[in-house]
Amino acid sequence: MKRIFNFSAGPAMLPQSVLEQAQAEMLDWNGSGMSVMEMSHRGHEYMSIAAEAEADLREIMGIPSNYKVLFLQGGASSQFAMIPQNLLRGKGTADYVDTGDWSDKAIMEAKRYGKVNVVASSKIGNYTSVPAFDTWTRDANAAYLHYTPNETIRGVEFGWIPETGDVPLVADMSSTILSRPLDVSKFGLIYAGAQKNIGPAGLTIVIVRDDLIGETLPGTPTMFDYKIHADNESMYNTPATYSWYLAGLVFKWIKQQGGLAGMATLNQRKAQKLYTAIETSGGFYHSPVAPDCRSWMNVPFILANAELDKSFLSEAAQQGLMTLKGHRLFGGMRASLYNAMPEAGVDTLVSFMQDFAKKNG
Ligand SMILES: Cc1ncc(COP(=O)(O)O)c(C=O)c1O
Repeated sequence: MKRIFNFSAGPAMLPQSVLEQAQAEMLDWNGSGMSVMEMSHRGHEYMSIAAEAEADLREIMGIPSNYKVLFLQGGASSQFAMIPQNLLRGKGTADYVDTGDWSDKAIMEAKRYGKVNVVASSKIGNYTSVPAFDTWTRDANAAYLHYTPNETIRGVEFGWIPETGDVPLVADMSSTILSRPLDVSKFGLIYAGAQKNIGPAGLTIVIVRDDLIGETLPGTPTMFDYKIHADNESMYNTPATYSWYLAGLVFKWIKQQGGLAGMATLNQRKAQKLYTAIETSGGFYHSPVAPDCRSWMNVPFILANAELDKSFLSEAAQQGLMTLKGHRLFGGMRASLYNAMPEAGVDTLVSFMQDFAKKNG
């Protein structure tokens, strides 16, 4: 069996022990004689899997009891519409922070449902920084404030949580959820597509304060109403059963790693190693992102000589270092270091980068 180090931005690596457990349980889950894939979502076996996954997520994130945890489908992209549909609640305006391509998509979608007030944007600087909070032009009557704590494409991450007072804070945590401890009570709503730090694609997690749901815009489809999903424990329709089960195995794995504090220590160390390699390369590699907002999860870097990009990628692939090509919007390289990327993957990448620079510098 061959396993590579996959630096993809998502779908991304899963912990090997999780895949092995899923493999062992594939044909017969816990003596049921069935694969989890074959179970009715309303049967007692599957209900126990679903409930345990939610309980474990609540435990590792410390989710307060007045928050609903929803296991939905449609990707984070559906949330770009569901959030205004559910959270505008009679208010015409929502605040949005624009720190990259994903923020921008969320803004474009929200504009279909109400007035969007872009409180700050780093577009002019090619989305390589986070605008200082004291420059934000917030609307005190906004229905909510939406931001993207980690912009996956350009690797820009907030090191702080905006203080928005009574205006509920909404966060697209697709590429940073579960990477470190978080005070959930500071948020009105957190959402994330699963395919980076949670599990396989097909599942989207929404954590929402219960007083914010139940008042949708007229015409909102039933499937886009958080209250419907909350009242039906995410089983109004058939959920993504297998992805939910695998997410549950990932939550147990996180617990074994020392929870989110353990993940944070590991993630910070992995990111530090890679940024140090970039910084100490004498200009052979550089990071385009402002130092105070460099992501732990997605590390873009540029080779000073772009003509070497092709050979960098092919020689890296020969060492099992895959999917390092930067996003088509940005170019260069990008290494995504989600929770399941082993530290050995980063060590191998760093030594490859050093050798490559020596050979070609
Ligand atoms: C920050 C962020 N938001 C939203 C999305 C879109 O997620 P999905 O493909 O689950 O709709 C992504 C996907 O990479 C992302 O990184």
